[in-house]
Amino acid sequence: AQNARIDDLMARMTWEDKLNQLQVTFAMSDDEQDARAASGIGALFWPMSAAATNRIQRVAVEQSRLGIPLLIGLDVIHGQFTTFPIPLAMAASLEPADVECAARTSAEEARSGGVNWTFAPMIDVSRDPRWGRVAEGFGEDPLITSRMAAGSVAGFQTDDLAGPATMAACAKHFIGYGAGEGGRDYNTVDMSELRLRSTYLPSFASAVDAGVATVMASFNTFNGVPVHANRYLLTDVLRGELGFAGAVVGDASGVENLVPHGLAHGLAEAATLAYRAGLSIEMGGNMYSLDHGALLDEGDPEVVARVEEACRIVLRLKMAMGLFDNPYVDEATEVNAPSDHTRQRALNVARHCPVLLTNDGTLPLSRSMRRVLLAGPGADSLDHLGAWVQQAFAAPPTETLADALGELLGSDGPELVSVGQMDPLAIIDADIERVRDAAAGCDVIVLALEEPSQLTGEATSRASLRLPGGQERLIAAATATGIPVVVVLTNGRPLVVADWIDQPNAVLEAWHLGIEGPRAIADILLGHVSPSGRLPMAFPRHEGQLPACYDAHENTGRPASVGGSMRKPTFDVGLDGPANLQEFFTSKYRDLDLGPQFSFGHGLSYADLSLDTRLGTDSISLADLDAGATITVEVTLSNASSIDVEWTPLVFVTDVVASIAPAVRRLADFKRLRIRAHGSATWRCQIGAEQLGFHTGDARGFIVEPGEFRIHVAGTTDTATHTLTVTAR
Ligand code: IFM
Repeated sequence: AQNARIDDLMARMTWEDKLNQLQVTFAMSDDEQDARAASGIGALFWPMSAAATNRIQRVAVEQSRLGIPLLIGLDVIHGQFTTFPIPLAMAASLEPADVECAARTSAEEARSGGVNWTFAPMIDVSRDPRWGRVAEGFGEDPLITSRMAAGSVAGFQTDDLAGPATMAACAKHFIGYGAGEGGRDYNTVDMSELRLRSTYLPSFASAVDAGVATVMASFNTFNGVPVHANRYLLTDVLRGELGFAGAVVGDASGVENLVPHGLAHGLAEAATLAYRAGLSIEMGGNMYSLDHGALLDEGDPEVVARVEEACRIVLRLKMAMGLFDNPYVDEATEVNAPSDHTRQRALNVARHCPVLLTNDGTLPLSRSMRRVLLAGPGADSLDHLGAWVQQAFAAPPTETLADALGELLGSDGPELVSVGQMDPLAIIDADIERVRDAAAGCDVIVLALEEPSQLTGEATSRASLRLPGGQERLIAAATATGIPVVVVLTNGRPLVVADWIDQPNAVLEAWHLGIEGPRAIADILLGHVSPSGRLPMAFPRHEGQLPACYDAHENTGRPASVGGSMRKPTFDVGLDGPANLQEFFTSKYRDLDLGPQFSFGHGLSYADLSLDTRLGTDSISLADLDAGATITVEVTLSNASSIDVEWTPLVFVTDVVASIAPAVRRLADFKRLRIRAHGSATWRCQIGAEQLGFHTGDARGFIVEPGEFRIHVAGTTDTATHTLTVTAR
């Protein structure tokens, strides 16, 4: 019946009607929105309320020639009214259910106002923290990003696209946007098939498997061809290999950007290239609607076929979403503020995300102290929401960290002294003086430092990853007092902390945690909740060390290791510097210690957790793997402390010798566990062909090769390694 309805509509549509359906347009004023809706436009952006979306839907249904309802889109990334932690922070929680909860809450809130399409999740694997958009993604690892992608799609779409509180999701940005050279936004991507398939494609495959309704093309070039005009990627890979049958939307002005890219002489050529490549919907440039309606040539049979196909896809989506039956929302039940319930959800998620980077035991703060100094730009800041919140909707936190900490300390706890009112982008001498003066007589100094939200997100690549505005001076001044110092970081990307990381007694990476950020941070500082996040991206020692991700490289022929045995040269090379200089002809920087400051997966708990692991068998045949057999890795975490905690063990696989140089290690599985005080928790992780195999990047595709594998389990500070042999068929 649906097909018949679409056939009937298609038969009545003119060329212009069809092109109009392939357009998402930015229209701000009521008049402009109504005019677009009446013209039969397919999708609109920036709705403001249930009444407004109902109004424009009514215009579309009652006044446009064919009465087709609208897709109404918005970037609802990590919250509409109730802002959850930034996606990078949620990746640190290693809990896909949290991402699903954030997406579900966002969909409930946004759809109540008539927004039926979100441009989320962003599932670009992000390996260069200079790129501002790392805040919007799930970090450096393909498996984490894939699981979060599935969680997010499930949260936005549920299993019923036509549900009253669902939104069509959009997996973005396809593909390679996170691999822009130098971490510079919109920059060139030059990538091997091997890397495409092993690192960047899995998250999109996962979103497609989860039923994502739409996919957004990315701004970057890919091996010379901008994705918006890249037929290989949009048609062969996305549709052919991944089997995606939904709508491919361009990014804002991505089609007209083909002109400055140097791929098209003008807009008409750009429009044609994009359609030939496989785009379904153009965003922002009005390339296919009113303004440029004649750009596509009705005489070009390939373009005509593409337009027909895209139009059917859009109509099918609108039908699947139930918009033809009811395009309106109930204005009486419109949500326009966070509720206690959604705040509680946001708090639960926020408590899972902070990562304890260092701690000599100063954290959690003891209630037996007399006086606590909370100082720094973050003491009284409300800047916790992070990148990609819609100012018109997102509610700010109702309390600062000073408020939250004061409340939890209560009147019978240590006295709280707060020194705030500082500009995170310009610390001045007077700020330093105020901290020094207030520190006298305090038992601990908590420094709340910030990378402001405005420095994160789209078009905010940074060449320096240090704390901005001279905030490091506050650390130097605080530690010089001799009083224990705890640093709390609220930021949207990995930072370079090398110059000061050894000075404070503890450092908590809190990220931009959303509306309940201050309360979640206070809970952790006081030990009401133990930190349970693990870094989803490495913190480099220096920007010059990038990329610092754990599997960004294959083993080189000359891997470096501290104290190794590579022959020293006989000439004078000046061996002053890091210990790794003892081995000379190896892959490293001469002026840096090996490895990142904090590797992917780093994180500490307040609990004393010990790890015990067992491998079900140390040998398995390829034939058994082919038949679906798995090896059990039994992972037990025992908690010697008197607090209940949550922690996520990570299981990595290394293929020791393979027909292509194997990645140094790959994350194979993870699971968040709850470990009671003085108790233990066991997880039986299954390792099969999917975890042991690799993409060859050539016609052989994904294969498992016989040989030796290392299974490496990372608890908190404990690790265990097992050897597994895969025998030939
Ligand atoms: O969805 C976004 C995209 O991620 C970046 N460019 C603008 C789009 C619409 O806001």
